Amino acid sequence: MTIEKKLIDQFINVTSKAALEASYLVGKKDKIAADKAAVDSMRSELNKMNIQGEIVIGEGELDEAPMLYIGEILGNNTNGQEFDVAVDPLEGTNFAANNLPGALSVIAIAEKNNLFKAPETYMEKISTRVNEKNVIDLDYTVKKNISNLSDYLNKNPENLTACILDRPRHKEIIDELNKLKVNLKLISDGDVSGALLVTEQKYNVDIFLGTGGGPEGVLAAAALDAFNCNFQGRFLFKTEKDKARAKKMGINDLRKKYELNEIVTGDSIFCATGITSGDLVSGIEIQGNDFVSETLVTHKSSGLKKVIKLKQNLK
Ligand code: FBP
Repeated sequence: MTIEKKLIDQFINVTSKAALEASYLVGKKDKIAADKAAVDSMRSELNKMNIQGEIVIGEGELDEAPMLYIGEILGNNTNGQEFDVAVDPLEGTNFAANNLPGALSVIAIAEKNNLFKAPETYMEKISTRVNEKNVIDLDYTVKKNISNLSDYLNKNPENLTACILDRPRHKEIIDELNKLKVNLKLISDGDVSGALLVTEQKYNVDIFLGTGGGPEGVLAAAALDAFNCNFQGRFLFKTEKDKARAKKMGINDLRKKYELNEIVTGDSIFCATGITSGDLVSGIEIQGNDFVSETLVTHKSSGLKKVIKLKQNLK
């Protein structure tokens, strides 16, 4: 089964409206308010759609998130096509609060039971354009991955670029990349976008790696699948509470390395609309009674992968 093409426009509408609402709070130093604006909008727009969607990645559990919580059913058709829905209404809350580049509103959908139900915990991730087995692997050392990538792409390590979140926890990886003379693209936040920089040569990123949010990993995997890129992830469960919750969600092997096709299967749609301008898309621009948005859209079955610019009425 595939997801009907006509839904693409409707999901672009969902993320572009959420991005618009969050854009009113850009630079207001209030990440919670900006996030809430995006969440409220996304929920209300999803509820207008003639579908039955279940949130598998959202803003948390029912007791911690009043809206877009994991398990929440959205859409106005209880007999409609059933979907798994992953949302990050405001990806890069610091970017929005501080008016910095790269804030996005993101959604990914797949047919029911085809998106991984990721707990809200950290995930070790790796992604590249190279979709060949045993070239890049989460279990290899940084040195081995870079050496393999260098051989495969026929580029010296000093001509390779690695994208990674700039965090103290990545000191060893960053030191090793420096030692290997690999160029770095250090990002302060926003690793959905970071992981997607491997999708096209024009971004000049050859490998994305490091630890970030698990939900962000699943969202990025949906788009990477459409771009036929490689992704692997491994959840990091630190506390006993995290471990118990993972078990409850059906994860028995807590150290399992997930391949892309274990995270997302079948057809999918991914939309990421810019709130502030960044590497992938431009931010919201208000023009009189209209607003202009840019959304990176992928639809696996039709091969669609492009940035769609849209002018919509503010009402
Ligand atoms: P928020 O939008 O929830 O603030 O997340 C931003 C982000 O940078 C993600 O892109 C990333 O996965 C995660 O935070 C990294 O977490 P941490 O800041 O704890 O390293």
